[in-house]
Amino acid sequence: MIGEDFAELKLFITGPILLRDEVRQAGLLPEFGHRDAENSKRFVPIMENLLTIAGNPEGYTPVIFNGSGTNALEASVRSLVSDSDTVLNVSVGAFGDLFHKLAVVNGKKAMQLRFPYGKTIDPEVLEEAMKEHRPDVVTFTHNETSTGVENDVVAICEIIRAHGAQPIIDGVSIFGGAPSFIDEAKPLMYCTSTQKSLGLPAGFGIVFLCDEALEKAEKVANRGYTTDIIAQMSKARLKQTLTTPNGTLVNQMCVQLDYIVNEETVQARFQRHEKMRDIAVKWAGTMDGYELFAQEGYRSPTMTSFKTPAHMTIDRLKEVKELMREHGYLFDPGYGKINKELAEVGDSPIFRVGHMGDIMPAMLEEYLGVLGSVLGSFS
Ligand SMILES: Cc1ncc(COP(=O)(O)O)c(C=O)c1O
Repeated sequence: MIGEDFAELKLFITGPILLRDEVRQAGLLPEFGHRDAENSKRFVPIMENLLTIAGNPEGYTPVIFNGSGTNALEASVRSLVSDSDTVLNVSVGAFGDLFHKLAVVNGKKAMQLRFPYGKTIDPEVLEEAMKEHRPDVVTFTHNETSTGVENDVVAICEIIRAHGAQPIIDGVSIFGGAPSFIDEAKPLMYCTSTQKSLGLPAGFGIVFLCDEALEKAEKVANRGYTTDIIAQMSKARLKQTLTTPNGTLVNQMCVQLDYIVNEETVQARFQRHEKMRDIAVKWAGTMDGYELFAQEGYRSPTMTSFKTPAHMTIDRLKEVKELMREHGYLFDPGYGKINKELAEVGDSPIFRVGHMGDIMPAMLEEYLGVLGSVLGSFS
């Protein structure tokens, strides 16, 4: 039978992620019509629970896009940056760079402000860039998945607003694992997706939109169709999607969000993620020659990146990956482009440990124990 030799690996990568058994079983729930009353039975609680996980930000509505996080980011660029606007894409890593790429390939007048890998956005440098470029819209990443840095979204949005610009946030790899601060930061749009800290398979981009965003979009030409937040919002208000959703994922999402809000509780989920960051930080201290890569005070609660000692190479990390597979784990040997750039300047690579979604602290400790001994066999 197809699938019989598919490996049952515990995923410690940064998405897709390990799924709870209940979520896997929810994949067997009945298919339904997306314009039928059965649709509301699923989407009414989904929308309510998304708002609860977001901290009930006043004036924001959740909208579900088919696709993944990138579709949501692209929609933000298409709908919220007009032809006469300048957009400043602030980047602390590969996903900040992706936002810039999306702006450029969609023909927007885009500038980029980049910070070194592992560092957070420096407020003073941002201030200077705001004065120099006077952008209308600014994009940045809440949680940079390529480096493990969590930016201070409230402080960054404050600077952006103080200069008369409007912020858009990519919260893809953190939403569901930590506070999104949408209510405090008040972005035009906050974007995320299913396959990270919410503990679901990939398939939807999720965004939170406010009236200010819809008013802005009215003035933007050529918003496309699936990338048009006004068209998307018209269906979201009916608790529907603009185009046909993946019914299997909707069923799983309905079950999982109910679990997050009513069983685990949002606060306990956020605390569990903080605890896992602390476990990862402590483990780094026990690993001779290994260091935490992300700047102190800005380390992500959903994933941790580690700088390896001089003897480690990209190829050796690939060997580590295969050895971890033999132990039943999927190891993340770091973001390819960053490791290539590090190798070019003679520096050792980084690797990442995803601890998002429904990974439990005891599972992480067990994983790090095995990883420690595998890494210890390289010197
Ligand atoms: C911060 C961030 N932004 C955007 C993306 C792209 O999202 P997707 O793969 O869901 O399209 C990712 C994926 O890892 C991400 O981590």
